[in-house]
Amino acid sequence: MTRKILVTSALPYANGSIHLGHLVEYIQTDIWVRFQKMRGNTCHYVCADDTHGTPIMLRAEKEGITPEQLIDRVWHEHKADFDGFHVEFDNYYSTNSKETRHYADDIYFKLKQRGLIEVRAVEQFYDPVKEMFLPDRFIKGECPKCHAKDQYGDNCESCGTTYTPTELIHPYSAVSGAEPVHKSSDHYFFKLSDARCRDFLKSWITPPHVQNEAANKLNEWLESGLSDWDISRDAPYFGFEIPDAPGKFYYVWLDAPIGYMGSFKKLCADKGMDFDEYWKPDSKTELYHFIGKDILYFHALFWPAELQHAGYRTPTSVFAHGFLTVNGEKMSKSRGTFITADSYLKHGLNPEHLRYYYAAKLNGTMEDIDLNFEDFVAKVNSDLVGKYINIASRCAGFISKYFDGKLAFTDAGSLLDGAIASGHTVSASFESRDYGRALRDIMAIADRTNGEIAIAAPWTLARDETQREALHNICSRALHGFYVLSILLRPVMPALTSRIATELFDMKRDFKWDDLSVLPTCVNAYRHLMTRVDQKQIDAMIEANKQTMASTVDSHSPVRHAEAQQRAIAPIAETISIDDFGKVDLRVARIVNAEHVEGAEKLLKLTLDIGEEKPRTVFAGIKSVYDPEKLKGRMTVMVANLAPRKMKFGLSEGMVLAASGESPGLFILSPDDGAQPGMRIK
Ligand code: 2FM
Ligand code: ZN
Repeated sequence: MTRKILVTSALPYANGSIHLGHLVEYIQTDIWVRFQKMRGNTCHYVCADDTHGTPIMLRAEKEGITPEQLIDRVWHEHKADFDGFHVEFDNYYSTNSKETRHYADDIYFKLKQRGLIEVRAVEQFYDPVKEMFLPDRFIKGECPKCHAKDQYGDNCESCGTTYTPTELIHPYSAVSGAEPVHKSSDHYFFKLSDARCRDFLKSWITPPHVQNEAANKLNEWLESGLSDWDISRDAPYFGFEIPDAPGKFYYVWLDAPIGYMGSFKKLCADKGMDFDEYWKPDSKTELYHFIGKDILYFHALFWPAELQHAGYRTPTSVFAHGFLTVNGEKMSKSRGTFITADSYLKHGLNPEHLRYYYAAKLNGTMEDIDLNFEDFVAKVNSDLVGKYINIASRCAGFISKYFDGKLAFTDAGSLLDGAIASGHTVSASFESRDYGRALRDIMAIADRTNGEIAIAAPWTLARDETQREALHNICSRALHGFYVLSILLRPVMPALTSRIATELFDMKRDFKWDDLSVLPTCVNAYRHLMTRVDQKQIDAMIEANKQTMASTVDSHSPVRHAEAQQRAIAPIAETISIDDFGKVDLRVARIVNAEHVEGAEKLLKLTLDIGEEKPRTVFAGIKSVYDPEKLKGRMTVMVANLAPRKMKFGLSEGMVLAASGESPGLFILSPDDGAQPGMRIK
């Protein structure tokens, strides 16, 4: 019987880039979903950007755009990153949607009806200048323990002590710099301490709802007593206003998991599916949330308790994974190991190499995984190029050359039995998310196949015309091995194996799991399938990520100064008078649109708002370094009184300023926060 499965990954915040740490989870989930689909199960994978909250509101303000513009831009960035790594959602949505609002209100009112919402006054730090309550991360001050200055309101980065913001010495608002005052306001609480929630959770937090190791931790939390959960925030706040509480908004973490429902609801509307079949209390479908272990509390306590008491089904399982370390340490901007998805791709690295490497490290537990780049290079080159691809590259040519592309098997029965047995073993490992074990078993098949090839030595057989049958046999066996490997690897490397199915094995579709029980009949001429990864690419990526950091380091840092002084710069141009300079009218501009120009190799077409009635069009030679989607909404600087220039693609009405030097890269300018379109730069 085919299963009906709904799968989610945690929703990334809409104010930051997807990095290699995030990708552990999306790749882990995507592999599982692809495996389920290949098996013939009905499986839907939904996700969304997590768009609400104070940091997003303030970030948009800092960029001089609305939160809606910010989340729209970031949505496109995230989507491009996921596409680049072949993470294939059935719907990638936004929590700032009518569907999510609907279910947030629905859950809130149902919990309220059942007496599980309570209003209580809470005293918090308030910024009297900005007129807003401050989340802990937006209060800074002196550490009460080591007296380091400018520490955040929840912990000290210098000595590691954790504390509450009220313990900070000389606290100040990180938003306005003002000294915060205490202020009381009403907050809405979900009564997690209520006996109904406690009793339900006590029976719920057991395997298979959660992993063994998670169950222990969750039980500890439960035993030490759950506190009621504060689900409201005061205006100003970017989020959904609580319908019966003007000026109060749902806390971002209340509507985030509800975003799973919102995204799925949209998918149901688009595809004509029945939402209730998946979310009603007695649903026969399965619901899985893939998450990082840091957000277990939200997904395995708050979320099931909310769902249960609002009359929805609860998750079948919450699958938590560990954190990513890079070269054995926390990802670090100064070491260049805080690498974005975009940067990995831009450096020409193969996304499926990372998928393979992560899969090899994942085992379905909450253990942390390490991306060791030396090991990464060695493993990818040895397993994928040296063992797997090598089989086809060594044998397919002989089949094309001597046997018209036809495969012939002398022992079809045993080959099929072997393939089906491998399919059983490997599918059990994929199902339990032990991808490491799956890949070890898969690579054992590659080793066996390569062993057979080495013994039969087809390259020697090919030189002897009397050995054609033996040659045909070993190459067919080897290519059957390659076929089996490609089917089993499809969840991990979907793009590569898709090419193998259609280009090499001449199929009109991608592989399904059931293809293990048939034999391939022919191959087309072999075409290059995979290039080795070069340590130099990794070094360049790490170096580039260090540079990005150096350019964002506080300019007062002594290290930064020493570095800057040593760098060779182009000679300074001839001296000009202040009047000469005054002739150049520089303006702050907002990039309202950026797009590729058909036929132009280097240019992007920018639409710039400098406060005039009509925005200006400027063609800028920055295509090689900037993704137009990422420029939209951003502020920059332009020369506003440059004579318009007629170009092949249209009239350019000014020029955008960008820095460049000896080292690669081109960097457009940004004014400081607060600058508005049209302001003159003098
Ligand atoms: O921790 C985070 O990045 C959150 N944005 C995850 C939300 S997951 C779900 F609850 F929506
Ligand atoms: Zn300290």
